[in-house]
Amino acid sequence: MEKINAVITGVGGYVPDYILTNDEISKMVDTNDEWIMTRIGIKERHILNEEGLGTSYMARKAAKQLMQRTGANPDDIDLVIVATTTPDYHFPSTASILCDKLRLKNAFAFDMQAACSGFLYAMETGANFIRSGRYKKVIIVGADKMSAITDYTDRSTCPIFGDGAAAFMLEPTTEEYGILDSILRTDGKGLPFLHMKAGGSVCPPSYFTIDNHWHCVYQEGRTVFKYAVSNMSNVSAEIAERNGLNKDNIDWVIPHQANLRIIDAVAHRLEVPHEKVMINIERYGNSSAGTLPLCIWDFEDKLKKGDNLIFTAFGAGFTWGAVYVKWGYDGKKQQ
Ligand code: UT7
Repeated sequence: MEKINAVITGVGGYVPDYILTNDEISKMVDTNDEWIMTRIGIKERHILNEEGLGTSYMARKAAKQLMQRTGANPDDIDLVIVATTTPDYHFPSTASILCDKLRLKNAFAFDMQAACSGFLYAMETGANFIRSGRYKKVIIVGADKMSAITDYTDRSTCPIFGDGAAAFMLEPTTEEYGILDSILRTDGKGLPFLHMKAGGSVCPPSYFTIDNHWHCVYQEGRTVFKYAVSNMSNVSAEIAERNGLNKDNIDWVIPHQANLRIIDAVAHRLEVPHEKVMINIERYGNSSAGTLPLCIWDFEDKLKKGDNLIFTAFGAGFTWGAVYVKWGYDGKKQQ
């Protein structure tokens, strides 16, 4: 049997209208635009601030645009994977809610939780369903409403996060395009440094947990920063080397958008110039599982068939990895 690859045939995305600026954040906590720009590289982030709307609202917008752009019939979608840390509910899955909203009749769906590495894991997982030969159209979504778990009284975390969603369509090809290689890692050593203290089975919600803001992101930034730089750089260099990629034939690096200084360090390690690195952190902040597909959504018009792309991310767990993609079409798909 001929080898089947999973090629990305389109992208859709969505960020909410409301823009939260550094100046506004400076009115909530003791910080300023200069600190946020120099230490993180974020100018503004989009926030889903309408009551009653959750991650599935953004995921639906992104997936709907994706289906329009790829001309996909809802009846033909086999599988939906939603990478998210901020699901609408503990259960049912956000992916199941999405199936209803998109009127999918023949799909199965599940959520994936690997924090900021969620979309990388979804790329490889979705690709494996395609490679199996049984599934022809798989939608993978990276979506997070980080504002729902951000403590806007904590200056060390609240400038970082934003909300957003984007989605890829994966389809089979026998040509050498698509998701060609991946290195994914999890070590479980990150728990003390990056977590949400309450709301899970170890510490269910109580008045105490709410009073102490334990339903928000807790992060020891300096430690996470260190591991993010070394792990993203190492794994990106490893995947490049084993696929014969170097600064001359890597066309794009797509790094998780957590901190511009982390992005710069990864690019430096790969010796790839800034023009080949997708960066939109300044406008969106860190939308966790949303960052990687949102980069492609923003830069799609610059991509050419045959471009070599390295995606890399790092997140809570710790989780991290890199994925090598040979891009499958020219420019922006619009319908
Ligand atoms: O996406 C998942 C993975 N997450 C990441 O990759 C995030 C990794 N970490 C980071 O990006 C950075 O560590 C942060 C952006 C979170 C923090 O930057 P930093 O340069 O590591 O700052 P720091 O935590 O070492 O703090 C330096 C100083 C401290 O003051 P002192 O103790 O030196 O007097 C902080 O209190 O900066 C202070 N500080 C602030 N000052 C103004 C912390 N937050 C702020 C703030 N405004 N918002």
